Amino acid sequence: MKKFLAAMASTLMAVSLVGCGSDTSAGTPAPAATAAPAATAEAAAPAESAAPAAAADGDLSTKKVGVCIYQFSDNFMTLFRNELQNYLVEKGFSKDNITIADGANDQATQTNQIDNFISDKYDVLIINPVQSSTAATITDKVVGAGIPLVYINREPDEAEEKRWADNKWNVTYVGCDARQSGTMQGEIIADLGLDTVDLNKNGKIDYVMVEGDPENVDAQYRTEFSVKALTDAGLEVNMLDDQVGMWQREEGQRLVANMLGQHANDIEVVFCNNDAMALGALEAIKSAGRTTGTDIFLVGVDALDEACEAVLAGTMTGTVFNDHIAQSHSAADAAVNFLTGAGNEYYIGCDYKKVTKDNAQEILDSLK
Ligand code: BGC
Repeated sequence: MKKFLAAMASTLMAVSLVGCGSDTSAGTPAPAATAAPAATAEAAAPAESAAPAAAADGDLSTKKVGVCIYQFSDNFMTLFRNELQNYLVEKGFSKDNITIADGANDQATQTNQIDNFISDKYDVLIINPVQSSTAATITDKVVGAGIPLVYINREPDEAEEKRWADNKWNVTYVGCDARQSGTMQGEIIADLGLDTVDLNKNGKIDYVMVEGDPENVDAQYRTEFSVKALTDAGLEVNMLDDQVGMWQREEGQRLVANMLGQHANDIEVVFCNNDAMALGALEAIKSAGRTTGTDIFLVGVDALDEACEAVLAGTMTGTVFNDHIAQSHSAADAAVNFLTGAGNEYYIGCDYKKVTKDNAQEILDSLK
């Protein structure tokens, strides 16, 4: 069922892929004047009856949208939030009524921002949780206040998503299935063939892994499925190191510099859960005098501009396009659907895309 809904949603996303602007300004919510209403599940209205009357005729210009981003300094979430803001304005929301808050990678800070949005009577919330494990608490307070909720990027667990469906709450999740991105990373390496990648000729793929925040399913699944794609392709693997880089470029650089120092020429493949860390790893690879494509292979996820350029230059072996345009548009569309009373499925998915030298230019062009 989830797969079917996800497939349906990605078809819808393809239809909604339209222009993007470049305005990046964002505010933070004003301090709450009053305490947040108590969270009571009963207060939540089912999808069919939750349409605020004013939005039913399509006037979104007076509706207040609160957006919580786990951390503004995250490269991928910056692309996501800028596109989200532009597209919300395109859909008819007033820029003055869109408030985007930086959670600064601290759940307490973000929870406080959510409380403020609730007491300031925002009409819809779009939340990229700092910790997905806090989703149940967030859902309870937002639903308890009768405000529809769109989660993005960090998927709450299955039990939490089931609650939304069981209670017919106005809550949904928009994101991609990270298993697919991990599988694609592994396939990019497997497609090169054992002869090319097995530089030390021990019959195995000797790799190191640089993980994002381990609390995040994207990190868990990419770590697992990149390696699974190699073994599924019949290749033997040997993990030399696996460290957490928290999605950050500087950490990617520091960790891979250490790994290269420790395992020297044994490292054949560097898997990074995202491009920011892969770009950091690339700096470490260059400093160590290694050459991607010749004596080491490097893959990331996201298809940041700089990573696509690196793929074209051959300094990164490949990446996987994490479609921030489709995801931000779907999140905004979901917010509109809640406000107009059209409602949403409880899971809105999208597809990743493999990026190699063959199509990196095409991906770059599509993002211009
Ligand atoms: C992206 C990462 C980003 C993370 C934030 C992932 O889907 O690939 O680049 O740091 O989301 O949650």
